[in-house]
Amino acid sequence: MLRFQKLKAMRLVAHISDLHFGRHDAAIVGALIAQFGEMCPHLVVLSGDLTQRARSSQFAQAKHFINRIKAPVVIVPGNHDIPLYNVMHRFFSPLEKYRRHIRETSTSGDWYVDDELAVLGLNTARSLTWKSGRVSIGQMGLIRRRFEHIPQAAWKIIVTHHPIASAHGEPRIELAGRAMLALRAIADAGVHLLLSGHHHRPASGHPASDLLLHETMLVVHAGTAVSTRTREGEGNSYNLVCLDGPHATVDVMRWNGSHAFEPARRSRYRLNSRGRLESEIV
Ligand SMILES: [Fe+2]
Ligand SMILES: [Fe+2]
Repeated sequence: MLRFQKLKAMRLVAHISDLHFGRHDAAIVGALIAQFGEMCPHLVVLSGDLTQRARSSQFAQAKHFINRIKAPVVIVPGNHDIPLYNVMHRFFSPLEKYRRHIRETSTSGDWYVDDELAVLGLNTARSLTWKSGRVSIGQMGLIRRRFEHIPQAAWKIIVTHHPIASAHGEPRIELAGRAMLALRAIADAGVHLLLSGHHHRPASGHPASDLLLHETMLVVHAGTAVSTRTREGEGNSYNLVCLDGPHATVDVMRWNGSHAFEPARRSRYRLNSRGRLESEIV
């Protein structure tokens, strides 16, 4: 019997990241909001770096963008959402502006649950390891507590700004501190998908890890959706994750340079009865 037999509804999750308001392209911002209006995702996930320099004006622009999204939004901060040069704020109130502008004035959050999926956002941005980020020991306990009562048949997703694993077959990337410990806690909690940003390059696949758990979950990295901080050869993009029964499809939606994001690359997986996510030929 398939674990997903009782599930009826598919879920469309738009995964955007690294908006970097202050270094954004206003035309792409408008096109992205219009596309969300047409496709009506069930959930939008925003995996950090909302701003370029954690300025109040940039958070205000990010907030305006988020408030135009009709779907629930799960958000985590990125390293750019912590002040870099203002040392007092960086070390004593690193996320004060993020909380004031984003957390307290919008309907977004770091936890979403419905009958089909449960999504937990974890803040990996740190004052001391500004660029690299870290998962705390306390967050590993939080992972266990949040997912322990979620039905086995639901998709379980964790969102971080800094990646916790590289994708198998893709270049190895720098990971958040304590990534291996976190990966073990995530596997023990039965999490299926890890969504992250930070490197501004889209990629997905099984974790490239030495731990014997790589086929039970997928890592999905997002490019930068609307900023001008694109990496060479990448352009702007976001991920569209479709969860339909035992099937998970990840489409990289790439900016076409003029007016819209278009499907550019598709990866498809199927969760089998042994809890393994098998690649499917597209
Ligand atoms: Fe970024
Ligand atoms: Fe970042």
